[in-house]
Amino acid sequence: MISLLVLGIETSCDETGAALVRDGRVIADRTTTQLLHEEYGGVVPELASRAHERLLMKAVEGVLGDAGIAPSELNAVAATYGPGLAGALLVGVSFAKGLAQGLGIPFIGVNHLEAHLWAAEIAYGELPLPFLGMIVSGGHTITVSVKSFADYRLLGTTHDDAAGELFDKVGRMLGLGFPAGAAIDKDALDFEGKPVNFPRARVKSDDLGFSFSGLKTAVLYFLREHYEEQGGGFDIPVPERKAISAGIISAVADMLINGLETAWSTGNYRALVISGGVASSRFIRNRLRQFAVDKGIQLRIPPPEYCTDNGTMVAYTGYLRYKSGFTSPFDLNIEPSLNITDSNKKYIDQQQIQKQSTL
Ligand code: KG4
Ligand code: ZN
Repeated sequence: MISLLVLGIETSCDETGAALVRDGRVIADRTTTQLLHEEYGGVVPELASRAHERLLMKAVEGVLGDAGIAPSELNAVAATYGPGLAGALLVGVSFAKGLAQGLGIPFIGVNHLEAHLWAAEIAYGELPLPFLGMIVSGGHTITVSVKSFADYRLLGTTHDDAAGELFDKVGRMLGLGFPAGAAIDKDALDFEGKPVNFPRARVKSDDLGFSFSGLKTAVLYFLREHYEEQGGGFDIPVPERKAISAGIISAVADMLINGLETAWSTGNYRALVISGGVASSRFIRNRLRQFAVDKGIQLRIPPPEYCTDNGTMVAYTGYLRYKSGFTSPFDLNIEPSLNITDSNKKYIDQQQIQKQSTL
């Protein structure tokens, strides 16, 4: 059997990641979160690009060193080409193309959303098909019907904020820094008692979408009613903040589960795959596990480190593409607004090329 070694690069937002996957198995991963955005209360695109520029070479040299691999042993270089911040994507894609060109090996552009989904396979082995997928992160909250690798149908998406975006926005009001998802999660896990009750948005019964902006407004009104506003945040005693965090994350969990219930009924799915940064929340994972047990659904959630952005999911998805015979043209452009259903655009069928060259 021919062995396939793929280097994967992730630079779509504020994580700089590089990883090596050999024949579907992870052999090295170095993913760094850029902490410099914290003081600005959000990701600053220009600073993210510059930080990727600074960190990426180190990450790539790091994984090669960790695994004892020489660049000449690589079979392909994969990089996220969308969706994400344009400047940030450009750093990873340009680096990957240059390296692949220099080594005379294929370059593979990876759809970040697709990579989030297939991260589950790294932990669980082959996923049962068809499955219902949900990606719940800082930029996306979508449900997708997955017939097979690269065959997707978008079911629902958010009408306004993504779930992670909501956490990051209300987190600022609660004085929890940026990004705030993990801090809200921790608050909720620490809290024992009755959480603050916030309204759950109900989308129409035939709507597979989500809506989180109503919850954001409800939290703001609640805080204004009960606490003193101070420079963009509120002065809240810690035990009360924990009750609020628990209320927010419970409402999000309920809304996600409500959306999953509707989406599950759209097909004969054999498993439910959930990934993205918000799926690393212990609180939400517990609720999802309970939902899956109650419904008798096979649940596949990657371990937390593969739910948040990482190089491994890109290397692994690049490996799947390459294995199925597809690579990308070197003039592939970054696509900041790439959709999950755009996954099959612009790949080169290597088998087709080989067939033509032997005619
Ligand atoms: O998937 P991801 O790393 O990046 C995007 O593709 O967006 O997701 C980042 C999001 C942020 O909004 C962050 O607040 C949220 O995931 N997040 C969490 C947790 N860890 C990260 N939300 C809830 N609980 C966590 N433990
Ligand atoms: Zn992501």
